[in-house]
Amino acid sequence: MKFFIDTANIEEIKEAQSFGVLDGVTTNPSLMSRENIKGEKNIIEHYRKICLEVDGDVSAEVISTDLDGIINEGELLSKLDNKIVVKVPMIKNGIKAIKHFSSKNIKTNCTLIFSSGQALIAAKAGATYVSPFIGRLDDISIDGLNIISEIRKIYDNYNINTQILAASIRSPMHIINCAKIGSDVITSPLTSIVKLFHHPLTDIGLKKFLDDHYSVNKK
Ligand code: G3P
Repeated sequence: MKFFIDTANIEEIKEAQSFGVLDGVTTNPSLMSRENIKGEKNIIEHYRKICLEVDGDVSAEVISTDLDGIINEGELLSKLDNKIVVKVPMIKNGIKAIKHFSSKNIKTNCTLIFSSGQALIAAKAGATYVSPFIGRLDDISIDGLNIISEIRKIYDNYNINTQILAASIRSPMHIINCAKIGSDVITSPLTSIVKLFHHPLTDIGLKKFLDDHYSVNKK
């Protein structure tokens, strides 16, 4: 399973990249505005900076919702770097644009997926990735992981190679469960990735190893 970090914060991306387990980055307009990145020039520059920091795909989301606008923005973004994946919302014009991008070999991430039907349509249009938002489904008492299972089954039934990119991850258990179900990718805030490292028995065990070593060796 690929690990993407869901942030536009350069320091967090650098930290995740330093672990050696990072496969890509996803951003969205909310994450960009959280970093106070504003104006087309600065937004473009920020995507370039992110691409320099990571070995792997970088999702950059379009703002337009009309077909021509999505296509123009997406083509511009895709020219920035071959790591760029054009992130397109799950709307009718988004699906038409994904079909267009797919015919031009431009990678896409269909975002704001909340049902397996939406994921099926996006895959038929040729999306490289679909992003089901599992945390936001959990927030309204719908089992987000169940959507991942349904999409996995549908894609496996027809050997569809669109990758399931589980998004809106809120905890390390989301990551573990996505891996159990067979999600191709998770995109997570740094905090949930870091929590995977920890176990109290690891800390207790390491302390004992070091205490035992230093009980007979000089520091
Ligand atoms: O990048 C999209 C997704 O991960 C958003 O997550 O936490 O805003 O629901 P969240």
